[in-house]
Amino acid sequence: MKPLYSEERIHHRVEELAREISRDFLSKELVVIGILNGGFIFTADLCRSIAIPHEVDFMAASSYGDGITSGDFKITKELKKSVHNKSVLLVEDIVDTGKTLEYLVTEVQKQNPKELKVAALFWKKQKANPHIIVDYPGFITEDDFLVGYGLDYKGKFRNLPYVAKLEGTD
Ligand code: IMP
Ligand code: MG
Repeated sequence: MKPLYSEERIHHRVEELAREISRDFLSKELVVIGILNGGFIFTADLCRSIAIPHEVDFMAASSYGDGITSGDFKITKELKKSVHNKSVLLVEDIVDTGKTLEYLVTEVQKQNPKELKVAALFWKKQKANPHIIVDYPGFITEDDFLVGYGLDYKGKFRNLPYVAKLEGTD
């Protein structure tokens, strides 16, 4: 395991994103939607640094097919409240191919929010579908497999306060 993003560096970047978000959503009815499971730590830290009033909800999806076609997803945790007419910020841990995000954006759009923006701590931009837009990217990364700060490998390592590249997994 090779540490790539220190706890301090992540903390600093999360605060920068939160400042930007606080400015952009000022006077709006913001609902922050954390995407489980990976987004739980990023969402918790981001929320605590967002300086404007907002609601927090969570949703989860999982792919049940081969993951190759983007239709193979299902919602495994629904939102508690409708986001109709609200300003929504979806918070994802990492955008790899972008299929999960694409599916979740489509699902949330069905509720007709006033606007929908996306924050992702990591974005494998070179690899991800070019149609996928991350409005608030934490870090643009290479196609490495990352663990820590919410990101897991086979369910483990989410608790690491830093983010490391897991070697020998490709
Ligand atoms: P996508 O649908 O290909 O964008 O994959 C997104 C999901 O796959 C993320 O929400 C993560 O749960 C998982 N994932 C993708 N890349 C990594 C990684 O490098 N480390 C840990 N999980 C990852
Ligand atoms: Mg995830």
